Amino acid sequence: MNDQESYKILVDQVLDSFDESQNARLVEVLRSAVKHLHAFVEETGLTRDEWMAGIQFLTDTGKKCVDSRQEFILLSDTLGVSMLVEIVNQGATDKATDATVLGPFYVADSPPMEMGAFIGRDEDAVTPLTLEGTVRGAEGGVLEDAVIEVWQVAPNGLYDVQDVKGVFPNYRAMFRTGADGRFSLRTSRPVDYQIPVDGPVGTMLNATGRHSWRAAHTHFRVSRDGYKTLVTHVFDAASHHLTSDAVFGVRDSLIVDMGGPAATFDITLDAV
Ligand code: BEZ
Ligand code: FE
Repeated sequence: MNDQESYKILVDQVLDSFDESQNARLVEVLRSAVKHLHAFVEETGLTRDEWMAGIQFLTDTGKKCVDSRQEFILLSDTLGVSMLVEIVNQGATDKATDATVLGPFYVADSPPMEMGAFIGRDEDAVTPLTLEGTVRGAEGGVLEDAVIEVWQVAPNGLYDVQDVKGVFPNYRAMFRTGADGRFSLRTSRPVDYQIPVDGPVGTMLNATGRHSWRAAHTHFRVSRDGYKTLVTHVFDAASHHLTSDAVFGVRDSLIVDMGGPAATFDITLDAV
């Protein structure tokens, strides 16, 4: 029997081993994962040492995870899988604002603020920027009572949850739209910043000659009864990393000019 025949017999045995399951979706996902994993080993002619190195890498990734640090999500982000899941799960209409990755720095229950408020703690030493826009449904009407959560790095390139010397919350807030569907907030122009590299993901980036920079952005999570929650960012058109974002999160539709005192980012939500 040649190698190709042996590979086929083996993968079919594994695929057939799920035959008795009552969970059709689980079996569909597992069979696909097994097929691709076997094809990967076959295609690369993976050595035993390489397979063990991969297992060690995944073990180290698991060991790096604590409540405040999810290294597996960072791995998924830096391999483009998180972004792919967003694209695959995009809404049914092409009217909704494009989604992008949530990232690890979202915190539920951000402090509610009045429209027009400054979202940081220290209004000095910033590059002032007003972000404003209108929230609409895909059918075109403006949406009252939409909850807009925003978060971004401080001018020092750190999120409040990362900055042991800083205050919490900082550069994070929640707004609720009025009858006109509009929002407006004051912030500091976001800066490019580096994702955490003190774990296995950093080792992977280093070993492959990749950088760890994210294109400058402000995160938005927009929710409203009757509409699909949108998780996205607005990116600064002047960022140096728009075409090499470390987590592949940039979409052309999300890039705006932040060079002036104010930038507009209109948001459209798909109905549930
Ligand atoms: C972020 O934008 O906050 C982020 C996203 C993915 C990985 C690391 C950070
Ligand atoms: Fe971010």
